[in-house]
Amino acid sequence: MIEAAIYGYGNIGSGVAEVIEKNQDRIEKAAGQGIHVKYVLDLREFEGDPVREKLVHDVDIIVNDPEVKIICETMGGNEPAYTFTKKALMAGKSVCTSNKELVANHGAELIRIAAEHQCNYFFEASVGGGIPIIRTLNNALKQENILNISGIVNGTTNYILTKMEKDGAAFEEVLKEAQELGFAERNPEADVEGYDACRKIAILSSLMSGRSVDYQDIYTEGITKLTTEDFLYAKKMDKTVKLLAMSKLTEEGYLAMVAPVLIGQEHPLYNVNGVFNAVFVKGNMLGDSMYYGSGAGKLPTASAVAADVIEAARFTGTHLQIDWGEEKIALADMPSSKRSFFVRLDRNKVLEAKAAAEFGNGRVVFLESLPEEYGYITPVMSEREFAEKFEKLDGAISRIRIEGK
Ligand code: HSE
Repeated sequence: MIEAAIYGYGNIGSGVAEVIEKNQDRIEKAAGQGIHVKYVLDLREFEGDPVREKLVHDVDIIVNDPEVKIICETMGGNEPAYTFTKKALMAGKSVCTSNKELVANHGAELIRIAAEHQCNYFFEASVGGGIPIIRTLNNALKQENILNISGIVNGTTNYILTKMEKDGAAFEEVLKEAQELGFAERNPEADVEGYDACRKIAILSSLMSGRSVDYQDIYTEGITKLTTEDFLYAKKMDKTVKLLAMSKLTEEGYLAMVAPVLIGQEHPLYNVNGVFNAVFVKGNMLGDSMYYGSGAGKLPTASAVAADVIEAARFTGTHLQIDWGEEKIALADMPSSKRSFFVRLDRNKVLEAKAAAEFGNGRVVFLESLPEEYGYITPVMSEREFAEKFEKLDGAISRIRIEGK
C-alpha cells in the first residue's frame, strides 16, 4: 500500500479522493499496490464530513511523514502551492498536479527539483482536463519533432462561443447563463480574456521545444469583443469562430498565440463544441493527429490526476525524465507572422474600391440583415501591416483572424 495526500479539498481535490476510492481495484492493479489517502490538507474544517478524519492544516505533518510518497496538488494558484510543492519534492515525494498556473510559471524548475530528489512532478491534469495530452507528448510522441499544436483548451469559452453560434445569443447573455449553470466562474476573466488558454499553450509549447516558454511572451486575445454579427458573417462564409491556442514551429522559431479565429468546416477543430476540448498535433513523421474529450470538470480532471498517481506509484524512487529545460526560449516575432483577416467595414465610410486599395484584392461578404456595413477578407499579409492599415482606416469596425483557407 502506498500512502498519498491531497493538497486542497475543493472541486478537483475531492474528485481525486472519489476517483481513488471508487476505482481502487483498477488503480491497485495498475499501480502494483493499493493507494490510500492518508491526509487532506485544507484550511477549512468540513464539519460533519468524513474527510475530517484525514484533515490537517499544517503541510509539515505531510512533508515530515515518511510513509507518504505521493502528493496530489489541487490547490490552484501560485502560492502557497509553489512552496508546498517544493517542500514535498525536496522530501522525495512525487507531486501530481492539476495546477496549470503553477506548471506554467515553474514547471521546468519543479521538474529539476524532482530529478534532484529521485521523485516526479507530473501535470497531466493541467492541460485538457481528462484528455491525456501531456502523456501523449511526453511518451507516445517522444520520437516526433512536433511542428504544430492547435487547441481548444478552454471549456468555458468554447461553451460560450458554441452558444453564440447556435443560438445567436450575445456574449454577455451567454456568459451570465454559463455562470448560472456553473460552466463559468463568478470571476470569468482568466477564461474569457484567454489567460487560462495562454498558460496551457505555454505548457504545451515548452514540451514541444524542450525549453521554457514564458506565457507572458505569448500574444493573447480573449473573446469579449465578439458579437452576434460576427457569427452571422461566419455562417455566411461556412466558418465558425473558435478561441484557438496555437504554437507552430516556423523558420523564425516557435510562434505562439491565443486568439479567436475564423475556421472553416475543413478544419479539424470546427466540430469541437460546448465544454469539450481538443488538441490537434502535427508531428514531422506522424503527420496529423487529434485528441478530444472532456477538458474540464471535477471527475475528468481528477481522473487525469489519478493517472499520474498510478505512474508515480509504479516508479517510486525513480525520476522519469521530462524534456522541459529551464532555459527560456525566445518566440518568433508575432507582428511579422502572416495570415488573412476578416474585417467589418462601415459602408458609408469605406467603399469597396477603397477596401481593395487599402488591403489589396480580397473578397467582399454581404449580409442582407446588415445593410450599413460589409465584410472583407483580406489577402495574406503580416500582422503588423494589417494592424497599421486597420487602425488608420476610418470606418473599420472590427476584425478577426482567419486560420486556414
Ligand atoms: N476554466 C477552465 C476551463 C477549467 O474552462 O477550461 C479547466 O482548466
